[in-house]
Amino acid sequence: MGSKWLLVILPLILTYIVEIALGGKTSSFVRSQWPSTDIPLDNQAFVEPDGYNAPQQVHITQGDYDGKAVIISWVTTSEPGSSEVLYGTKENEYNLKSQGELKNYTFFNYKSGYIHHCLVSDLEYNTKYFYKIGDGDSAREFWFQTPPEIDPDAPYKFGIIGDLGQTYNSLSTLQHYMQTGGQTVLFVGDLSYADNYKHNDGIRWDTWGRLVEPSCAYQPWIWTSGNHEIEYRPDLGEMSTHKAFLHRYATPHIASNSSSTLWYAVRRASAHIIVLSSYSPFVKYTPQWLWLRDELKRVDREKTPWLIVLMHAPIYNSNEAHYMEGESMRAVFESWFVQYKVDIVFSGHVHAYERSYRISNINYNITSGNQYPVPDKSAPVYITVGDGGNQEGLASMFCDPQPDYSAFREASYGHSTLELKNRTHALYQWNRNDDGKHVPTDFVVFRNQYWGSSTRRRRLKKYHHRWNPNMFASFEDILI
Ligand SMILES: [Fe+2]
Repeated sequence: MGSKWLLVILPLILTYIVEIALGGKTSSFVRSQWPSTDIPLDNQAFVEPDGYNAPQQVHITQGDYDGKAVIISWVTTSEPGSSEVLYGTKENEYNLKSQGELKNYTFFNYKSGYIHHCLVSDLEYNTKYFYKIGDGDSAREFWFQTPPEIDPDAPYKFGIIGDLGQTYNSLSTLQHYMQTGGQTVLFVGDLSYADNYKHNDGIRWDTWGRLVEPSCAYQPWIWTSGNHEIEYRPDLGEMSTHKAFLHRYATPHIASNSSSTLWYAVRRASAHIIVLSSYSPFVKYTPQWLWLRDELKRVDREKTPWLIVLMHAPIYNSNEAHYMEGESMRAVFESWFVQYKVDIVFSGHVHAYERSYRISNINYNITSGNQYPVPDKSAPVYITVGDGGNQEGLASMFCDPQPDYSAFREASYGHSTLELKNRTHALYQWNRNDDGKHVPTDFVVFRNQYWGSSTRRRRLKKYHHRWNPNMFASFEDILI
């Protein structure tokens, strides 16, 4: 490890030692920010592409279980147009094609455009693909990079964004993330906040689709649904839930044997990612509960060491906003997270940043009296990244005093990155939307919950020649 890294990490080690000695930290940082109002409709950030019926709101997501497929989605507004994707591995040479399908919907008096979803499968790993959608002069071209083959030491960099919305703060979060070199976004719910408008104005779903296209068209965003996706409006005659989300955002749920777009799993590089729905039934015997029970059995840490769970409402969070809203899911799923040694649970919903220590509360029940979370080496770290920057503003009131389980919290806008280095270690950082800042605000080196056990580490040292123990050996103090 070079001296540059030492200069970056040494102050963080000292900070961490102080943190351990004194308990968690509540950042007092206050940064001036743009007002929490949405960007006007005529702003350049929402501009429609040139050309008649040109594809807009282009976004891609993983299309299968293991990363050899993508689902490419877009909207046309004047007429249906083609749902075909032309693609290939050389720019301007589209020798392959795939046929998609078309959807549209109404929501009260809003009528959506023509929403296209096209599965492109049988891709090669680690390959750049170029793709073209739309007709004639209005066709548009993009590209994406497929992930490495599933491998326990495959490096990969994820971004984590939540509660994004469409304010200038949202745009700042997006632009900051796009500078990180992140390869795929784990999105933890609450996309457009269109439901804050009269009649849940679908036009704000369209503007959000155009706002995020500069990232979404070029790399997968793994979608989690939040409460702003529910859109249950019986007063408007809209009795179904998640209508806009389900029409606009596809997920590969069938590839993981899920019966719903809203909960599913994907494997990517060295990670197994489980997406849960906070606002769908999850108690014992429901489809989501049965699915998660079976999916956790399918996790193979020898192939995908990093087990990551996404959900919208946080299980552990000490902000006064939405306090305890994740408690019902904690009661149902927390013991599984500990049993299966989940590495990290990411969530959003609370518009601030917070990271927990490894703690659990699985011995608590209505008669045990053990109501406090306790340190637990088998438990996940819980991270709330609901600070994307939406119109509802920041949740700046933290519970006081800071609970023992809370390691770091700050009410600023930002995003996180998780860089999986190999089967044993990952670099994690949270970055507030702070221009020109080179040191991330919250930095942690994660030791893998499966390969970090002393028995498996000994086995690695003996048999696994690719492992490089020197990479982080000096920094055991900031390993968690
Ligand atoms: Fe939310």
